[in-house]
Amino acid sequence: MTGDHKPGATPIIRMLEEKRTAAQMGGGQKRIDKQHAKGKLTARERIEILLDEGSFEEWDVFVEHRCTDFGMADQKITGDGVVTGYGTINGRLVFVFSQDFTVFGGSLSEAHAEKICKVMDQAMKVGAPVIGLNDSGGARIQEGVASLGGYAEVFQRNVLASGVVPQISLIMGPCAGGAVYSPAMTDFIFMVKDSSYMFVTGPDVVKTVTHEEVTAEELGGAVTHSTRSGVADLALENDVEALLATRRFFNFLPASNREKPPVWPTQDPAEREESSLDSLVPDDPAKPYDMHELITKLADEGDFFEIQPDNARNIVVGFIRLEGSPVGVIANQPMVLAGCLDIASAIKGGRFVRFCDAFNIPILTLVDVPGFMPGTAQEYGGIIKHGAKLLYAYAEATVPKVTLITRKAYGGAYDVMASKHLRGDVNLAWPTAEIAVMGSKGAVEIIFRQDIGDAEKIARRTEEYQQTFANPFIAGSRGYIDDVVLPRQTRARICRSFSMLRKKDLKNPWRKHGNIPL
Ligand code: HXC
Repeated sequence: MTGDHKPGATPIIRMLEEKRTAAQMGGGQKRIDKQHAKGKLTARERIEILLDEGSFEEWDVFVEHRCTDFGMADQKITGDGVVTGYGTINGRLVFVFSQDFTVFGGSLSEAHAEKICKVMDQAMKVGAPVIGLNDSGGARIQEGVASLGGYAEVFQRNVLASGVVPQISLIMGPCAGGAVYSPAMTDFIFMVKDSSYMFVTGPDVVKTVTHEEVTAEELGGAVTHSTRSGVADLALENDVEALLATRRFFNFLPASNREKPPVWPTQDPAEREESSLDSLVPDDPAKPYDMHELITKLADEGDFFEIQPDNARNIVVGFIRLEGSPVGVIANQPMVLAGCLDIASAIKGGRFVRFCDAFNIPILTLVDVPGFMPGTAQEYGGIIKHGAKLLYAYAEATVPKVTLITRKAYGGAYDVMASKHLRGDVNLAWPTAEIAVMGSKGAVEIIFRQDIGDAEKIARRTEEYQQTFANPFIAGSRGYIDDVVLPRQTRARICRSFSMLRKKDLKNPWRKHGNIPL
């Protein structure tokens, strides 16, 4: 669309070409070079990688800001610092906005916000996801309150779109102050290492108020948010890796809450046996094993897209496909904190369950959980309320729910992890499953407290308790689990279960909205 004027072009066509060329250049070559020198791509280069080649339809290239203060009347740049429109990822429709840091630092003016709102509104009407590429100095300082109004217009749409169309935020530069709250209300946040950060107040303000000395990277970089705060779902090495990961991730998501997730062709037979799973759970119940191994061995072609792999690692969440259909996996991880549920893992798991439920993605739960994490840090931190988030999310979910207990399912955590009582559709167990109120040793020390001084008696009682409860049959005799399956046949049994559930139809009673313990 750009380039030299064609001979005989009318003045209008000439103007059109000039404007398009100007828009392509954003804030000019010098600023583009600066962007590249920081290891960052420009807004348009990012869109090129994100979308299928040639699929991008740009809107509002002619939009300019309306500010006249501080000499702004003379500084108008076509497009006003954000590239917006729609295109496809592997042939599927998606709306995008990509902030252009070379134009007033990607700062958000009233007109810039209107462009973002326009694509969000259209995405809602047609039922397609929105991906935001964020790289912005925040509110356009010259505009003041008009910019704040623009942010709030975007926030409002983030909330109305939540649970209607998937929203993904890539943070590829600064994102500070109130600006962080738009990504925060989207479903997933992917950050680029070293070149992006998110914080409500920056290092200078932090130093003034709390006297802490901290760099922007330490305070709100990709590593911080993907390991400590849980704000970011993934930390990627650079722009290209982040954009390619987003393309891969997109393939798991439905276009909207009105559709089912896309089915992917697979050569992997549903009946595939995995004999190595027979020895996954060690004989010693205190020994851990890696739940990732089970997940990848169950998945079509071993493909697992993990979310938040470095935060709250005692729970593993992410997407796999079974017979080509996306499934959300939530699994306790015995390798970390013995797989206990704590505040961070309950929040991580609960949010993931709600995403899957909102977007018709069936849920597979793999259980090996010794209970909730004890301690003052957890109690003072509100494990009661936060643990309830995961419980609430599972109990509220109406999508197909298949649960497999591999080993421990103790206490309240047994109930929480998609048990039969929370409308689990198919609840399976391996022969190694132990479903009990608590571990044998703890149980004996309570019910035979009078024998605590007698080591031999306690050992005998512990053995007795272990023999009674360290198996799946008591739960089986009550129908709390539907069947005991051999590990090697697990993929086949789970695939059949989800296949049976394909047309599941379950609705919760009407209400304005529930009151999840926030
Ligand atoms: C207008 C801005 C801008 C802004 C940057 N620029 N931020 N213009 N409004 N908010 C312009 C700069 O003037 C500069 O223009 C160009 O963008 C690049 O900025 P640099 O400072 O040269 O870049 P860099 O050194 O990389 O630093 C980036 C930065 C810094 C850390 C983002 O620019 C900065 O601190 N900006 C101000 C951030 C801020 O305070 N924003 C308001 C926060 S309040 P030239 O012409 O030289 O290229 C907020 C509230 C939102 O956002 C509330 C929502 C409810």
